[in-house]
Amino acid sequence: MKLVILLISATALLAANARPDPDFNPIRLRSEGRVGAFVNNCESWRLASEVNNFRSWKVVPEQCVDYVKSYMTVEVGIQTQYEYDVGTVVLEAIEYLNTVSPAKGKNDTWLFDLTDTLLSSLPYYSRPGANYGGNPFNETAFNEYIKEGNSPLVPNVNYLYKDAQEKGFKIVILSGISEDLRPVVEANLNKVGFAKWDKLILKYKPGMPTKDFKASERAQLKKDGFKVIGNVGDQWSDLLTGTNAGKRAFKIPNALYYS
Ligand SMILES: *[C@@H]1O[C@H](CO)[C@@H](O)[C@H](O)[C@H]1NC(C)=O
Ligand SMILES: *[C@@H]1O[C@H](CO)[C@@H](O)[C@H](O)[C@H]1NC(C)=O
Ligand SMILES: [Mg+2]
Repeated sequence: MKLVILLISATALLAANARPDPDFNPIRLRSEGRVGAFVNNCESWRLASEVNNFRSWKVVPEQCVDYVKSYMTVEVGIQTQYEYDVGTVVLEAIEYLNTVSPAKGKNDTWLFDLTDTLLSSLPYYSRPGANYGGNPFNETAFNEYIKEGNSPLVPNVNYLYKDAQEKGFKIVILSGISEDLRPVVEANLNKVGFAKWDKLILKYKPGMPTKDFKASERAQLKKDGFKVIGNVGDQWSDLLTGTNAGKRAFKIPNALYYS
């Protein structure tokens, strides 16, 4: 009997030691990632970007600008391909949400990125100056777009947001948009139906790269007891860097830019 107990506890100990580091992630971002120089098919280019094989690219390749424009704007059936792709991710996230519940007395959280996760920048990227991501990012012009306060919602993500909220999860929105723009961002969120978040964290450290800012804020959230259960973002840097990146992460498609 004693031997059996000893064996069982030894096995349990081994299993405990073999448990993977929860923050280990085999596709964690590396700064030296592939840029994606070889493009002979735009659909393959988009797929390679979505799954984070092509990284750190600065503009949509010239030969794929029309492809990205169609992907974002041309209806196939009753929606654009982009809308179908976002809808598929949202449905899967809702499936996952249905399997988890917030722990009593804790701050279990669903974390949402803002730009192109809740609020769309497609109207900005449709302008000639941005050319569906075919022109380099212009921060001045982009901030002017945000200041207009008219961003539409990213299709269907509102259902996930509301369901997570109704289930009793904390809702935290984390964004690289400047803290200076808070009033316009809050008004824009409310206007399209996002309301009653628990925290809206905007970048109050202007000098810090957004991915570092987001990683440090997630670590801080963890310290404050906000454990991320679901993490939703359109950039891999929202989902793969730092700690507290969620029990599950959901990548909202984005063919317009990589950051
Ligand atoms: C960036 O946008 C601003 C504001 O719209 C514009 O004045 C400027 O010329 C643009 N810069 C480039 C390099 O296109
Ligand atoms: C949950 O968050 C609130 C507000 O920030 C905080 O006061 C409280 O201590 C947190 N609870 C836990 C269990 O971490
Ligand atoms: Mg984003």
